[in-house]
Amino acid sequence: MNTEGLTSQQQTPEDKERQVYLQKSGAIPRHIAVIMDGNGRWAKSRGSVRIIGHKAGVDSVKDIVEACGQLGVSHLTLYAFSTENWGRPKGEVSALMKLLVQSLRSETRKLHENDIRLTSIGETDRLPPTCRRELEEAIALTADNKHMELCLALSYSGRWDICQAVSRISQKVKDGVLCPEEINNDIIADHLATAEIPDPDLIVRTSGEFRLSNFLLWQSAYSELYVTNTYWPDFRRDQLYEAIASYQKRERRYGKVPAHLELEESTVAMR
Ligand code: IPE
Ligand code: IPE
Ligand code: MG
Repeated sequence: MNTEGLTSQQQTPEDKERQVYLQKSGAIPRHIAVIMDGNGRWAKSRGSVRIIGHKAGVDSVKDIVEACGQLGVSHLTLYAFSTENWGRPKGEVSALMKLLVQSLRSETRKLHENDIRLTSIGETDRLPPTCRRELEEAIALTADNKHMELCLALSYSGRWDICQAVSRISQKVKDGVLCPEEINNDIIADHLATAEIPDPDLIVRTSGEFRLSNFLLWQSAYSELYVTNTYWPDFRRDQLYEAIASYQKRERRYGKVPAHLELEESTVAMR
């Protein structure tokens, strides 16, 4: 693992200190998933066109990827383009695709040097050929990297994911390799696009919208949610640290009783 490489030349001692403090104050989420929203409103608030907001959002992506790598987050999933986003004006869609190609071209080498593995989830067949090619090349180049997995959700939606899983499971039942009675949580999870990725511990959404917008619907069952009013282009590592600090204060009960109550109950039962 090349931890040296993960430290940006601009990393200030104060930033390093903040990261060490977070690492000491609680668990760092193993998987953070981000709904990067608010690029258009960010641009509008500055009297610019939406694409300027998307461009500015790329700088946030770079900063968050780098900070997550430094903190020891093992999986970072970024919701970059949803199934429904294909319904946006043609010019915006093609500008987003162009930005994706440019970003892959300029950033893949750095990802590779920092031992970051790039993957994607979604209906990537729908991406324009150049985009698909760049993505496939970046995925192939970084396939053996171990430090962190950066997963781009592209042409992704939770309902699409569930549909494709159900379709593949049904085919197995039809072929007689799986019985309907055998279908359980694990079988479904194993057929989702995220089969190799743990469920997100923390889902961050920027721009103040309290919704999932068709992101990781199955996988978010017990994720902690964090919504900030900050628009994505203004969301940088300091805002990420706030999200993680909030996560560290949560008690994840998974439908059970808090650990200390469980202890008290068992003492009462023994009396
Ligand atoms: C997020 O920002 C980027 C994508 C969904 C591709 P938006 O483009 O949704 O920005 P707002 O929400 O309109 O401000
Ligand atoms: C969610 O943002 C999708 C991505 C961030 C890629 P949207 O802007 O598309 O979601 P809605 O329309 O506000 O629900
Ligand atoms: Mg939006």
